[in-house]
Amino acid sequence: MHVSPPTMTDLLARAPVMPIIWIHDAQRAVPVARALVEGGVTVFEVLLRTPAALAAITAIRRQVPEATVGAGTLLRAADVQSAVDAGAQFGVSPGLVPELAQAVVDKQWPLLPGVWTASEVMQAMAWSFEALKLFPANGLEGVKQIEHLQGVFPRARFCPTGGIKPEHIESYLALRACPGVGGSWVTPQALVAAGDYAAITALARRAAAFATSRPQ
Ligand code: 3PG
Repeated sequence: MHVSPPTMTDLLARAPVMPIIWIHDAQRAVPVARALVEGGVTVFEVLLRTPAALAAITAIRRQVPEATVGAGTLLRAADVQSAVDAGAQFGVSPGLVPELAQAVVDKQWPLLPGVWTASEVMQAMAWSFEALKLFPANGLEGVKQIEHLQGVFPRARFCPTGGIKPEHIESYLALRACPGVGGSWVTPQALVAAGDYAAITALARRAAAFATSRPQ
């Protein structure tokens, strides 16, 4: 039986909080991923902003099968190819340009493209993207933005990222069109560097508990 891979909308539905991870040392990747899974978080994004990021994604994919790992900060078609080759199961980009959109459409690979304005939502939807990253959300600024956009684009779903802390999350998850948020607070760089995986599991538990904040 052929089972279709999850869409980006499916993945957001699994993640009330999607950790955004900086990995400077690929050796840390598997223990960090295991710490997140232990805390109940199985969908997360590794930023392609460090030389270790692709190796980190490959290691997680091979050794942590419970996880669904994405590649963040995709800017061009070549980044999509590198991410897919590394084993990433979805991509995240801060915005959208045609070469990036074409690359993921050709591969039928899930992408969470970044938007802020109505025109950017229209451009993304013209490429059939309906799960969108609202960036930069900057604390609670994104709440009003989603309130406006969700009225105009009822099919769109928004995952805000950028400056979102735990105290902001309930306001976002109360919005019909916001199934989840992204944030780096679940995997602080200091805890990753120190190898404090128990503390990361504790933060992951806090992140996973936000599932109960979504409207029923
Ligand atoms: C990013 O893409 O860099 C993230 O949105 C960062 O979010 P943060 O403010 O939680 O680190």
